[in-house]
Amino acid sequence: MRGRFISLEGGEGAGKSTQLKRLAEALRARGLDVIETREPGGSPGAEAIRALLLQGEDDRWTPEAEALLFAAARADHVAKTIKPALERGAWVLSDRFLDSSLAYQGGAWGLGIAQVRALHEFGSRGFLPDRTLLLTLPDAPDRARARDTEGADRIGGRDAAYHAKVAAAFEEIAAAEPERCRTIDASGTPEDVTSRLLAAIEDLL
Ligand code: TYD
Repeated sequence: MRGRFISLEGGEGAGKSTQLKRLAEALRARGLDVIETREPGGSPGAEAIRALLLQGEDDRWTPEAEALLFAAARADHVAKTIKPALERGAWVLSDRFLDSSLAYQGGAWGLGIAQVRALHEFGSRGFLPDRTLLLTLPDAPDRARARDTEGADRIGGRDAAYHAKVAAAFEEIAAAEPERCRTIDASGTPEDVTSRLLAAIEDLL
């Protein structure tokens, strides 16, 4: 049987990475084969593109070039890592996927959500997660800034107005696709949040 593909999404500081690990452990405890991956990255080619995207000055790329690089990294990640794992029956949990491009490049950087979606149609033939879990936490960007005292990456370091637009775009995308996307309150203890995530994928188990 084909595995399931779950993406975790949200702005900076909502606790995605911690929750991804916790969710993977909970699924393994149910006897599932689970792989954890991330974007940008998740395959050797996409990890090479990650360095191009996250290092350097904010104006290193035009918005269009940035969106194309994310789409190229994703095409490689889908073909080399995600699809082969699903075909052998594994569950794939990804820290970010297409919706990050729709929100960060399409919504907040002004390229347009439909234009960025078109890049995904070309790069990955429109391949989508079985479920996308959007973690929301109102003061998340402030938490991320406090955490990243060493200086955030090219995109995480953008100003508060940019991150507010990212959050609004995520909400808009999730509302437009209620079957695929579930919004999860990321406040409370890590245990509480993991339980909410599990409840939101229960129908896929
Ligand atoms: P990462 O270090 O993985 O951050 P986080 O812990 O916030 O997930 O850096 C990924 C950065 O790239 C993050 O600021 C979000 C951004 N990003 C995009 O702008 N578009 C995308 O399509 C993806 C996958 C990430």
